[in-house]
Amino acid sequence: MEKTKAFLSRKEIDASEVQNLRSILKFHEHRYYIKNDPLISDREYDQLYKALEWIEKESPDLVVPDSPTQRVATGLTKDFPSVAHLVPMLSLDNSYNEEDLLDFDRKARELTGLTEIEYCIEPKFDGASISLVYENNQLVRGATRGDGVEGDNITPNIKQIRTIPLSAAFSDYGIETVEIRGEVLINKNNFAAFNKKLVEQGVAPLANPRNASAGTLRIKDPLEVKRRNLEAFVYHVSYYTAKPSAGEKNSPGQDYLGTHSGTLEMLWELGFRSPELEKKVLKGIQEVVLYCQEFESKRDDLPYEIDGMVIKVNDFLLQERMGMTTHHPRWAMAFKFKARQATSKLTRVEFQVGRTGNIGPVAKIEPVHIGGVTVGSVSLFNEDVIREKDIRIGDTVLVERAGDVIPYIVKPLVELRQGNETPIQFPTLCPSCNDVLIKAPDEAAWRCVNINCPAQVLERLMHFASKDAMDIRGLGGALIEKFYSMQLLDSIPGIYTLDFDSVGKLEGFGARSIDNLRSAIEASKRQPLHRLIYALGIRYVGETMAKTLANSITHLMDLQNLDEEALQKLEDVGPKVAGSVVQFFRNDDNIDLLQQLESLGLQLQNEKRVMGSEGSLTGQSFLFTGSLAVLKRSDAEAMVEANGGKIVSGVSSKLNYLIVGADAGSKLEKAKKIASIHILSEDEFLKMIAYHTK
Ligand code: IVH
Repeated sequence: MEKTKAFLSRKEIDASEVQNLRSILKFHEHRYYIKNDPLISDREYDQLYKALEWIEKESPDLVVPDSPTQRVATGLTKDFPSVAHLVPMLSLDNSYNEEDLLDFDRKARELTGLTEIEYCIEPKFDGASISLVYENNQLVRGATRGDGVEGDNITPNIKQIRTIPLSAAFSDYGIETVEIRGEVLINKNNFAAFNKKLVEQGVAPLANPRNASAGTLRIKDPLEVKRRNLEAFVYHVSYYTAKPSAGEKNSPGQDYLGTHSGTLEMLWELGFRSPELEKKVLKGIQEVVLYCQEFESKRDDLPYEIDGMVIKVNDFLLQERMGMTTHHPRWAMAFKFKARQATSKLTRVEFQVGRTGNIGPVAKIEPVHIGGVTVGSVSLFNEDVIREKDIRIGDTVLVERAGDVIPYIVKPLVELRQGNETPIQFPTLCPSCNDVLIKAPDEAAWRCVNINCPAQVLERLMHFASKDAMDIRGLGGALIEKFYSMQLLDSIPGIYTLDFDSVGKLEGFGARSIDNLRSAIEASKRQPLHRLIYALGIRYVGETMAKTLANSITHLMDLQNLDEEALQKLEDVGPKVAGSVVQFFRNDDNIDLLQQLESLGLQLQNEKRVMGSEGSLTGQSFLFTGSLAVLKRSDAEAMVEANGGKIVSGVSSKLNYLIVGADAGSKLEKAKKIASIHILSEDEFLKMIAYHTK
């Protein structure tokens, strides 16, 4: 903004340039509010908006009545009947750093004449805005934001959202009619599950939970809406009328209706999901800044998306005194977290061969900063995704990196095409070994089925040595590639017969590093059996599944004798896993590999079973969910196993104990319905372990 100001103040601004800026803003508002398909990030929009605000402030004669600064927003979709909101739905002003917040506080103090102000701070939910009207305790209407003055009446869809009560005892608080604002969301787990289904059906996944919720609200089939498990947070009472009989002084609502935090509490008591648990009432802006920063660091751990915090002056009388602009109230401010979207140019596409031969297209983009990380490569997942989104080489693409989710391309910015963009050609031959690629009818990925394909061999070696598998410290990807290219290593048994004389002759290899590598390789021979099973890279066998398999046998070769039926009797083993395990053990090359590994001294016995690591938790199964406060998940699981207990991956009647950390989700809900499962807190679990290991 400072740069924009400096730039603008250097030149005379004429009316047509301002008009231009206005039409750009209107275009982007239309994309965002009406089409739910923005082309620029919120931050970029705000910069444009603030530039216009600043110009109009500097040159008031250029202000026109229909400037975006003079009204809320534009347009309406016509799919549902329009309804007028009881009170216009204003937006929020945005801030991005501490300085902006200090500025907000300074203005608030000026406007109120107070030296210190009490604020209520709550998350800024990243979903789709709604308004709800209750009359005589009944939900009578739910609407989208629309242009802020009128929205779409989507009551049948709103009624499918479980967190919105169909009736609520507002009369107990002396209220007859009330309008509430909130945000409809789809939580991260439901979103991931929904997208997984789309991908399985061969449909392109949705860009983000916000689009998913906004899109779902406009679906004309309420049953489909129900299936998508939307949720709603409510955070603002915009209007209410008192019940005629409740006008007297002692109306119970008065305890709640004087402050914003009071209304959140009332809504919570009435059964709404208001941010009662997340909100904080604080005096003075420094505390507010700290709370915003604290929440930003927790952002990725929350089950739903938030894109910032909202700071509201708590006292309604003060709010009234401060008033509002045509765009936003002066008593509230959004504090936006660091952006997670950016645009960049897609320069080329690489095709990588995965461990199981799957061909993964990877977009190379001009490096761009997103949320503190530089992103230069973005997975394109598979050919269907490329075709669905029509991504081309040379496109400007919108890239998102949301916390723990790997970066992905939201979409190409088709409007910015120059005409020289080229479609991405998917290879027909393996880029590593030149074998013909194959696509199974029920799969989205093209695959190279040549077991000796060099790229696959490398990937298998890297997986085998990786931290969660055999954990051979020092034998990382770069070294494996080097050894492979020098023909020092081309198979898993080769790790254990590595020619250290030749390795010693390589540049950068001293006696010390050779010793370290030798002992890391040696130590890996004693890794527990489940790690070896995982390290083999059998399709669909992840870490938990590897444990289940290891626990069911005394020697790895026992798996040779289990058919699909027997395997499916094990916890969580379905036909896909069973089929894959059987296929692996029917392959003579694999049996040969295992025999070689055993003769090289690797541990194929299940030591725990052989040595009878029976403990006080033998026969008991455990599952951890949510984030633990004290223990690392892997340490907690190791404690269970050290005492003879078993870790399972899902909630079923076979589960004995569910240990619940913060923000536990669907597993906890499911477990509550099965009476035989003991639900423990982390604290109770620690006490139990202490008791058992006494
Ligand atoms: S208060 C009159 N509180 O953010 C003020 N808005 O960027 C009403 N939003 O239009 C808004 N979380 O859709 C408020 N805790 C929260 C919010 C919130 C998300 C949305 C809302 C608003 C948009 C502004």
